[in-house]
Amino acid sequence: MANFLLINGPNLNLLGEREPEIYGSTTLADIESALKLAAQGYGHLLDCFHSNAEHELVERIQQAAGQDLASIIINPAALGHTSIALRDALLGSGVPFIEVHISNIFSRETFRHHSYLSDVASGVIVGFGVRGYELALSAAMEYASQ
Ligand code: DQA
Repeated sequence: MANFLLINGPNLNLLGEREPEIYGSTTLADIESALKLAAQGYGHLLDCFHSNAEHELVERIQQAAGQDLASIIINPAALGHTSIALRDALLGSGVPFIEVHISNIFSRETFRHHSYLSDVASGVIVGFGVRGYELALSAAMEYASQ
């Protein structure tokens, strides 16, 4: 049994209503419950956390350091493009993490092309819509069993 943590950053609480042509119609609650079920199906546990506030995300990642987590799956949203604090928190936690972006950030505005997390992530999943979360969980589970 392994423990995983799913973290979603600013504005992802609006999935389903926010720019549906980019992010689709699935809500964050749908994503979280599907991922929890998928993890449970393999005998694992997945905890979920969302915040619009950078400091709350940093605090949750700091807590994660002591929680025997196999991996964090994180969609940092816009903070991926701006936040050295999030990068430092993830590095400081010592927990491997997978970065997810629903949209293909490389086909969008140039300010979305850089992420402060990608070079220190175990892997990055970009542009597969909300299916990217399932792909990340699947990779995280495989990684945990190695
Ligand atoms: C996003 C991409 C970011 O550029 C954007 O700020 C988001 C969502 C994505 O999942 O595609 O809020 O992380």
